[in-house]
Amino acid sequence: MNVDVRDIPLTEAESDVVAVGVFEDEDLPEAIADARGAEDARGGYKKYALLRPEAPARVLAVGLGKRQEFNAERARVAAAIAASRAASLDAQSIGWALPDDSDAAVAEGLVHGTILGSYRFDRFRSETPDAPAKRLESLTLLGPDSLAEAAEAARIAAEAQNRARDLQNLPSNVATPSFLAERAEEMAAAHESLEVEVMGREEIAAAEMGGLVAVSQGSDEDPRLIVLRHSGGGDGPTLGLVGKAVTFDTGGISLKPAGSMHEMKMDMSGGAAVLEAVGAIAELGLPLNLIAVIPSTENMPSGHATKPGDIITQLNGKTVEVNNTDAEGRLILADALTHCARLGADRIVDLATLTGAVLIALGSTYAALISNDDDFAGEVAAAGDATGELAWRLPLHPEYKELTKGTVADLTNAAAKRKAGTIYAGSFLEEFVEDKPWVHLDIAGTAWDVGREYVGKGASGFGVRLLVELARTHSAA
Ligand code: BES
Ligand code: MN
Ligand code: ZN
Repeated sequence: MNVDVRDIPLTEAESDVVAVGVFEDEDLPEAIADARGAEDARGGYKKYALLRPEAPARVLAVGLGKRQEFNAERARVAAAIAASRAASLDAQSIGWALPDDSDAAVAEGLVHGTILGSYRFDRFRSETPDAPAKRLESLTLLGPDSLAEAAEAARIAAEAQNRARDLQNLPSNVATPSFLAERAEEMAAAHESLEVEVMGREEIAAAEMGGLVAVSQGSDEDPRLIVLRHSGGGDGPTLGLVGKAVTFDTGGISLKPAGSMHEMKMDMSGGAAVLEAVGAIAELGLPLNLIAVIPSTENMPSGHATKPGDIITQLNGKTVEVNNTDAEGRLILADALTHCARLGADRIVDLATLTGAVLIALGSTYAALISNDDDFAGEVAAAGDATGELAWRLPLHPEYKELTKGTVADLTNAAAKRKAGTIYAGSFLEEFVEDKPWVHLDIAGTAWDVGREYVGKGASGFGVRLLVELARTHSAA
């Protein structure tokens, strides 16, 4: 989407639709007070009214709620509502009259909400040639030029997030591990600061990444271990990012029920978010050094597949009884975390659609955050708060660690009783981070069907905004 900032009054805006924010219990902004239909304008949060229905420059009054409750998240929601109304009016451009005293965070919210709210995944629908779908193609913020930089940064992050959503929505027969690797290669070719390295089945085995070997061995589709480095300079600590990219999770021999198995094409959401966040970080030229590791494979049953009870050796030498082949994410993340630490990451964040249990605990509102380091946990949670990609911390405890001990090997990948499923997985991962400060985000609930105005059904791209923000604060620190 084309995004610009223009310091002009509402009356001079040339967009097909101009959205004007209205606060609850306040007078209408002067520019629309006398507009036809002004009596219908409501300030209530999520309310809206079309004031001047005639083109050009139809005016949409969008409720922002109470002024003191207004923030970037509400701006995202209001912008998504406006974008959706504008699209149904066949508008191709929208203007947003910024509420007075708007800061950069509100401007960013409006850009995020407009771009994310306009997202469609319709590339597999055959279009009727006489009715090409009109799309919102441009957004003009009517406000001071000083907001231009924030608006542009917000555009880059939101578009990266929409690309991550494309990767999530793509079916597993298209978005294979090699497809994701090619996307990484494409990004590295496009940005000076990026370098990519991709390992295939034989190299993964030679490197002794036993977890990735075990999960991928049931599949005819070749696995990939993708490493992307961003060299943005600065002398801060190197940030490590790890993303689970299981392009289809059948459960393996511990096969999942058929009911909603098709949704397991989204089990690469962590990898997608990491990939596209790194692209955005490179595009923004953020001054930090970063290493991203994305282990990618299918999890399939076959005559070659890992069987329940099999014992494997992970990259760091720890042995694991694979008691449930459906607990595959932790096996591939274990190797990726160790690899990331050994490549030089000083602290690591991983994103993974790891447990169904997190949906029960936190639904689609918060990701679960598990960490071995209070400061780093706070930093990541703050990046979530700033961007509306929320994360709530769950504890680690020696008693949970007990649950992960194997009967004949060092560890087991799934507990006999299903106690504390999300924490169990986090405790397991902690064994592989080489004592680096580390944050695990379980995004199984937040990556899909979030049902918020700007990320409705299907892929949400959760994590892209959070990671870009984290990289920003990291490079500023
Ligand atoms: N990919 C799933 C987790 C998942 C569930 C993602 C729902 C998105 C939506 C993961 O690999 C898995 O199967 N986890 C198991 C672990 C169990 C066998 C210990 C689970 O959560 O049931
Ligand atoms: Mn699984
Ligand atoms: Zn999985």
